[in-house]
Amino acid sequence: MVTGGSSGIGKATVARLKDLGATLVLGGRNNRGLRNEFYLDLSDLKSVERFTRAVKEDGVPDLILSCAAEIYCGDPEGAEPDLSTDGYDATFATNALGLQALLRGFEGEAKQPEKVVIVASKLERQGIIDPQVIKETRGRRMNRREGKFDSVKNYADSKLCNQLLATTLAERWKNTKVLTVSPGMVDTGLWRNFPPWFQTISMPIRAVALRTPEDAALGVTFALAAEEIEGVESGSFMVDGRVEECSEAGRDKEKGRMLWDVCEELIVDGINR
Ligand SMILES: NC(=O)c1ccc[n+]([C@@H]2O[C@H](COP(=O)([O-])OP(=O)(O)OC[C@H]3O[C@@H](n4cnc5c(N)ncnc54)[C@H](OP(=O)(O)O)[C@@H]3O)[C@@H](O)[C@H]2O)c1
Repeated sequence: MVTGGSSGIGKATVARLKDLGATLVLGGRNNRGLRNEFYLDLSDLKSVERFTRAVKEDGVPDLILSCAAEIYCGDPEGAEPDLSTDGYDATFATNALGLQALLRGFEGEAKQPEKVVIVASKLERQGIIDPQVIKETRGRRMNRREGKFDSVKNYADSKLCNQLLATTLAERWKNTKVLTVSPGMVDTGLWRNFPPWFQTISMPIRAVALRTPEDAALGVTFALAAEEIEGVESGSFMVDGRVEECSEAGRDKEKGRMLWDVCEELIVDGINR
């Protein structure tokens, strides 16, 4: 089961998985009417719940690959983040909360997925997460950073959430191997919410200096399907087929558990609203 399979790294990985003979189920907002596609908007918790229910009708997937993400830019003055359907910071809702909601949908089933691979980012090292602030602001803030809202820092915070989620999931799901993968800097549509001037200036640089999605898909496919991954410990952070240490904050089990609990409350609120 793949999220974010409609473009960029996810799309390139889906192509590789098809070559390997995988049977795929895709979730996204821009489906092409294929039989194995379901509508999924990760920023809308009711949509996530409907998606997991639909997927489970055919059983719990063996492998779950999370590629979906957004970087929302906030209002033009840069003071406030964009908000999701459920009223949470939209980047946090899409990249972190929606992913936890999706995974918890498979918790407690008789069969557990063999593997969960989350496409993460080294930017997590610049992230700050304070579960207490998430609780107090009802998911509108991930921390109390000083200064104006900064979309890239906010995205980095959401990628630290991914790392903490993997740390927690590795503890909760004993029979599942949970891995995060850094794909490097890749030329994809991830910057689509940035202003047109940014797109124009950065396009030639991105095309020359960054990896292609096909290159990045190699590391993701390796984490999903390589025999060599068998010896790798659950909760590991993979970079180009090797285990690296993620940030100390990303390995903080206590914070990971607190974040899980706070997100759990927001998810239940969002679903019942
Ligand atoms: N590009 C980089 O340099 C880079 C570096 C480090 C990590 N990453 C990570 O790599 C992963 C893949 O990103 P990418 O670079 O390939 O970007 P991308 O081409 O923009 O792909 C992002 C995917 O996320 C899906 N998506 C976004 N919002 C969604 C929502 N609300 N619900 C469901 N799906 C949603 C999009 O699908 P639809 O629009 O069809 O719904 C799209 O397929 C992300 O986790 C990103 O954080 C990227």
